[in-house]
Amino acid sequence: MKALFDAIAYSSATEDRGLPNGIYNRHDFFMWERQNLFGLTWFGLAFAADIPNPGDVRKIEVLGLSIILVRTESGKIKTFYNVCRHRGRQLVDSHCSGIKLLRCPYHAWTYRLDGQLQGTPHIGGTGEHRVEGFDKDQFGLFEIRNHVWMDVVFVNLSGEAEDFSAWIAPLEMHLTRFWGDQGPGQMRPASDGVMEMEVASNWKLALENYLEAYHLPFVHPGLNTYSPLKDHYCIVSEANYAGQGVNNYQPNTGTGTPMPTIDTWTQELGHTAEYPALYPNVLIGIQRDHFFTMLLIPQETNKTLERVELLFVGDSARDEAYINTRQAILEGWRVVFQEDVAAVEGLQLGRNVDVFDGGILTPVLDRSTRHFHRWFARQARNRFKKIAA
Ligand code: FES
Ligand SMILES: [Fe+2]
Repeated sequence: MKALFDAIAYSSATEDRGLPNGIYNRHDFFMWERQNLFGLTWFGLAFAADIPNPGDVRKIEVLGLSIILVRTESGKIKTFYNVCRHRGRQLVDSHCSGIKLLRCPYHAWTYRLDGQLQGTPHIGGTGEHRVEGFDKDQFGLFEIRNHVWMDVVFVNLSGEAEDFSAWIAPLEMHLTRFWGDQGPGQMRPASDGVMEMEVASNWKLALENYLEAYHLPFVHPGLNTYSPLKDHYCIVSEANYAGQGVNNYQPNTGTGTPMPTIDTWTQELGHTAEYPALYPNVLIGIQRDHFFTMLLIPQETNKTLERVELLFVGDSARDEAYINTRQAILEGWRVVFQEDVAAVEGLQLGRNVDVFDGGILTPVLDRSTRHFHRWFARQARNRFKKIAA
């Protein structure tokens, strides 16, 4: 690993070199990221709309871990490691709903939806469900800290990341010009606005592809006819996000009724749309008639699950009257994201060629990718220093 960290440091210290192959295709590095990158910060795990009702439970596989997402009786969202405190069996095998208690399939210990251990059958021998000296309060499920923002359930595995509000503040500030004081709270997720794609690539290549518009004329020829490369600009922040924006956004209405638009969207912003990637794994689209978020859920070194959710303005956007428009928008994005899959999978395959040394980042159109590489190298350096100390 030392040689790999040296290569990360080398490429981030040069103006135009990309990051080395090993960070995209080595399993040991993927496991390193779990603990030292994803584990220490906030990252997007799921959508709150995945568990709309009390008693809904969803199992999520990420970074080789299994996590459960639970909606409690009071409507709160809880996140736990998917493991029973008795012998460590995975507690939940599949998504379920209408649940009052989580019951381990192995020896039937039960947990309340807030994670508290409730039932311990035969713990003191046959027919004895209590035992002297065993304090159930000490053996609730292992809880993971979470925070919901733009319907994304963010989690922090270490429990030690800064407050979510401080962490998200730079991006929120950047987006204030679009959504004013109302913030993202005016947006509603669409139940018919979710799609998933599995991509045979490392999560970082999917993110890097999102950061640039350079490939637009070649990978998205259709999109490029009405949203050409020349109308795009790079977003490069001082913080944990970068991406691209466009000055010619036109709402896609298909054959349907135009969707409601954000009333804080000023005249001058009219045709602007922005596509920031919030590191490490949430891709965001902000347009005046809809937003989307895409979660990059790392499955393996070379496998990533992409989950996209559309959000529209206000409750009325959920009406039947808009169904055709909602579908047209979803299908429009499906085509674009599907076109990206081959590009991203090709990037992964290219990383198996040993002589490739990270490649060249061009000075204008790869600026956002460069921003991500520098951010990533900083995380690696800071953490590596601590490990070495
Ligand atoms: S492992 Fe869950 S009850 Fe025994
Ligand atoms: Fe693309």
